[in-house]
Amino acid sequence: MSFKNLKQQAALIFANEKATAEIKMEQICELLRNEVPYYDWVGFYFANHDAKTLHLGAYAGEETDHTVIPFGKGICGQVAVSNENFVVPDVKAQDNYIACSITVKAEIVVPIFKNGVNIGQIDIDSNTADPFSKEDEVFLQWICEGVAKIC
Ligand code: SME
Repeated sequence: MSFKNLKQQAALIFANEKATAEIKMEQICELLRNEVPYYDWVGFYFANHDAKTLHLGAYAGEETDHTVIPFGKGICGQVAVSNENFVVPDVKAQDNYIACSITVKAEIVVPIFKNGVNIGQIDIDSNTADPFSKEDEVFLQWICEGVAKIC
């Protein structure tokens, strides 16, 4: 697995004129979960700015009860408010955290901006402790830019 190679595969998914945005996002989730050994759950949440809630869209991995998350709640909800990447090397060290599975040790959330507005985010859970580097952040920002273009 290299991020360079993954970008090439993701670019093909984004460019497919026959697929809907929803299908492309599902394929991106599957690609990332299958190819990055420490990505165990990959999903997209999208913001409803009136209700101040995040809503689960495409995802790959175990089903989650957390399909709607209020702004400010959990790692995802905090990113809806902060507009900044949130890298959590150890979820146990976080007070404001929503546990989806007892196997999860770390999490990364990167916001998606369209025309300067935070419209959602990619959320990744890992069963490996402290697995994320700057490279993950840069790669996931690139993925989020791609998603913004197809939304
Ligand atoms: N852990 C997240 C909730 C979403 S699940 O990881 C799918 C959070 O604290 O916001």
